[in-house]
Amino acid sequence: MSVQPILRLGTVKSAAAFREHLHSLHLALPCDDEILTGQESPLRQRLVRGEIKIGNRIAVQPMEGWDGLADGNPSEHTIRRWQRFGRSGAKFIWGGEAVAVRPDGRANPNQLLAAPHTERGLANLRTTLIEQHRLTTGSDEDLLIGLQLTDSGRYSRPNTHGRPEPRILYHHPILDPRLGLPADYPLLSDAEIEDIVESFHRAAGMAQRLGFDFVDIKHCHGYLGHEFLSAHTRKGRYGGSFENRTRFLREVVQGVRSLAPGLGVAVRLSAFDSVPFQPDPERSSKGKPGPGIPETKENVLPYRWGFGVNAHHPTEADLSEPVKFLSLLEGLGIRLVNLTAGSPYYNPHIQRPALFPPSDGYLPPEDPLLNVSRQMEATRQLKQRFPNLIFVGTGYSYLQDFLPNVAQAALREGWVDLIGLGRVILSYPDLLWHASGGHDIHRKLICRTFSDCTTAPRRGLPSGCYPLDHHYKDSKMMELLTIAKKQ
Ligand SMILES: Cc1cc2nc3c(=O)[nH]c(=O)nc-3n(C[C@H](O)[C@H](O)[C@H](O)COP(=O)(O)O)c2cc1C
Ligand code: SF4
Repeated sequence: MSVQPILRLGTVKSAAAFREHLHSLHLALPCDDEILTGQESPLRQRLVRGEIKIGNRIAVQPMEGWDGLADGNPSEHTIRRWQRFGRSGAKFIWGGEAVAVRPDGRANPNQLLAAPHTERGLANLRTTLIEQHRLTTGSDEDLLIGLQLTDSGRYSRPNTHGRPEPRILYHHPILDPRLGLPADYPLLSDAEIEDIVESFHRAAGMAQRLGFDFVDIKHCHGYLGHEFLSAHTRKGRYGGSFENRTRFLREVVQGVRSLAPGLGVAVRLSAFDSVPFQPDPERSSKGKPGPGIPETKENVLPYRWGFGVNAHHPTEADLSEPVKFLSLLEGLGIRLVNLTAGSPYYNPHIQRPALFPPSDGYLPPEDPLLNVSRQMEATRQLKQRFPNLIFVGTGYSYLQDFLPNVAQAALREGWVDLIGLGRVILSYPDLLWHASGGHDIHRKLICRTFSDCTTAPRRGLPSGCYPLDHHYKDSKMMELLTIAKKQ
């Protein structure tokens, strides 16, 4: 792990100085000096592959706000967030946010739900987004909007914020104890899984009726789809061999194709992972977590509970199975792939690199730029291997002032097809639209990875950019977050 102090990127004055800093960390990320604008800008290039047409290379990542109504409908906060997704100028909206396909698969009691009584609410999110998008870009031509479908599996918490109700596929030697699960905690049965598959089919049918262009069958971040991929130790039809661990995906896709012909199918994938991390107990004090260290236990080697993980060195990635998985997607005729990594629950530094940890996290174990680079590099390698797939890349928010420079260079050098933006959309939705349009950048709105958007939901509050977005900053919610952080 690096011992070099972490440089605050807001203090770096030029792209050249940033490149020097990358060099000092032995990172080879591309970074352009000059940001091109208008038709010259790689960020504004249209992408056309067969019938898929996307008007520019800016994508909004799915981001839920823990702020829906108890019955799974959007609230005014949800609507505002989707308006801001539209305002971003992005022509590719990857899923909006995770929408549970069934009530018991909700990650929190305020997660959106796909059900007959939420159809109008979800349709309204889409039309609101399109209206705002038109105001920013002047037209909704070549705008692609998906809906991310999920079952939260191990991280289900459908009824009460403080009460996890995990639905697991196998026993995990580190994650089970973290959730307080006894050794005889029941696993989802094959029959229950078949029911879940049908819920995905129904939700996809609904998404098509509401006008969404595609659905994302979520396979990332430790939720159910992702857990299937690491179900090496599960017995029966859904565990063990690669074929069994991908049966869920194949069954979902098959049903979606027959029930909703013409609807696009996409997959967001945690392309690599690691053993769970924890704050180093020797360097933590009350209320102050120390730097993250891998949680090692006896008998976890070889590590058989990961996907895209080196079983003998489980802090390292192994892309051999992810490569097989992408071949499978290609074989299924799936072209749209969004690559992410790890999980916000057990290795957040990999999943959303940040300088400041969320309340249940730990200090960065190494410079967060290393983790930005890991996600970008994995995407570059997989893009090279699968040139016909359309890849959205993830993990750019930590780049801060240099996000436009790196994003432009990554597109120009073919590392990725679309730049997916997560947290920075919450603080400054139109950052890349402004940069590629030749407008001044509002530096005060750049996400500084304070992690309040992750901490708030951990404390039962809606997510949002509390430090920078006036909607939260100047509201009662900010007071509540301040109180909650002290408890
Ligand atoms: C508040 C919040 C909510 C998120 N919700 C989702 C989600 O619903 N689905 C999903 O796939 N990823 C979700 N993510 C992860 C982001 O899509 C993205 O992968 C992550 O923030 C890293 O990208 P960034 O560096 O641009 O923030 C969420 C992230 C945040 C901060
Ligand atoms: S709260 Fe705002 S500044 Fe902090 S990580 Fe989230 S979006 Fe970025």
